[in-house]
Amino acid sequence: MTFVVGVSSNAQIEFIEPSCGSGSFISKLLRTASTERISTITGVELNPRFAKAARSLWGSVAEIVEGDFLEWSANSKAQVNLMVANPPYVRHHHVTAERKGNNVRASSNELGITVSQLAGLYVYFLLLAHSLTPSARTRTGR
Ligand SMILES: C[S@@+](CC[C@H](N)C(=O)[O-])C[C@H]1O[C@@H](n2cnc3c(N)ncnc32)[C@H](O)[C@@H]1O
Repeated sequence: MTFVVGVSSNAQIEFIEPSCGSGSFISKLLRTASTERISTITGVELNPRFAKAARSLWGSVAEIVEGDFLEWSANSKAQVNLMVANPPYVRHHHVTAERKGNNVRASSNELGITVSQLAGLYVYFLLLAHSLTPSARTRTGR
């Protein structure tokens, strides 16, 4: 975190932890960057118990979304310029065919990249997070 905050531009930080658990990187960000540099903090977590824990820890300074990051990112108007993630390392044979199809289509639409059906879930986390960046926002006008 010290490194990424150090190399990120002087812009106000719009931070996201896309599979935040209880929010370990939110915690680290708050200990690394001054509050004046932080504009927004978002955490997204699928597991309701972790989302509840994250909200009770960070809800006063962060928006904690309970949901599936891959669906949320496709529909959200949020914009971020810094993401630090420890995504779910779900291997492809544990990802349903329907989900793979949706993710492959979404990454192809978003980035023009066709991902192998053998890719693990984390690949889509990285690719689809792109839709939240300023350059994608400018391109799509979302
Ligand atoms: C490897 S853990 C990382 C947790 C936290 N970032 C950390 O480093 O302590 C992955 C987390 O992703 C969550 N997760 C799994 N699938 C998800 C999804 N589709 N959207 C959001 N969170 C998800 C799991 O519930 C779990 O809390």
